[in-house]
Amino acid sequence: MPPANVRVRSAELSDLDDLVALEEHSFTSDRLSRAQFRRHLDSDSAKVLVASTGPHRFLGTAVMFFRKRSGVARLYSIATHHAARGQGVGSVLLDAVEHLARRRRCRALRLEVRADNAGAIRLYERLGYRRIATLAKYYEDGADGWRYEKLLG
Ligand SMILES: CC(C)(COP(=O)(O)OP(=O)(O)OC[C@H]1O[C@@H](n2cnc3c(N)ncnc32)[C@H](O)[C@@H]1OP(=O)(O)O)[C@@H](O)C(=O)NCCC(=O)NCCS
Repeated sequence: MPPANVRVRSAELSDLDDLVALEEHSFTSDRLSRAQFRRHLDSDSAKVLVASTGPHRFLGTAVMFFRKRSGVARLYSIATHHAARGQGVGSVLLDAVEHLARRRRCRALRLEVRADNAGAIRLYERLGYRRIATLAKYYEDGADGWRYEKLLG
């Protein structure tokens, strides 16, 4: 069960510090910079979502990309605050990501994940994502990746 009152909203400029801090704690390579987050906040082809309880308690984020004339949305990044992991926040964020992709009339959602990221892989597979490709040396540090897809009914 996620913590009580978790809601997902669009990220705002005031979230930038939390977004950058979470990115640094969660990923060792391929991180989004502050400037990139800032650009994505203003972009039609990107969406940064934030899971929070109340106005200040920042629990996690998901970054999505859309392409014109493409029916496939991309989940670029998802992370929850270390202290909030394993409590359903990631699942709530993924639910919101899928909802938004459907609203944008996407027929599928794709994501890439490090092949050694067992926790994230388990979450994706539990929620119906299927592995569709292996991506050799996909990450900056040379790690392999897997591409997953979920068809949005
Ligand atoms: C992957 C991630 C977003 C999942 O978020 P979450 O809030 O823990 O997600 P949920 O609580 O909804 O689901 C957790 C699932 O992931 C697993 N998990 C991952 N990290 C966990 C942790 N620290 N504690 C408990 N479970 C964890 C569990 O197996 C659980 O599956 P289960 O419900 O079948 O037992 C989060 O672990 C995270 O931020 N990781 C670091 C960043 C990352 O790797 N992102 C994915 C990049 S593709």
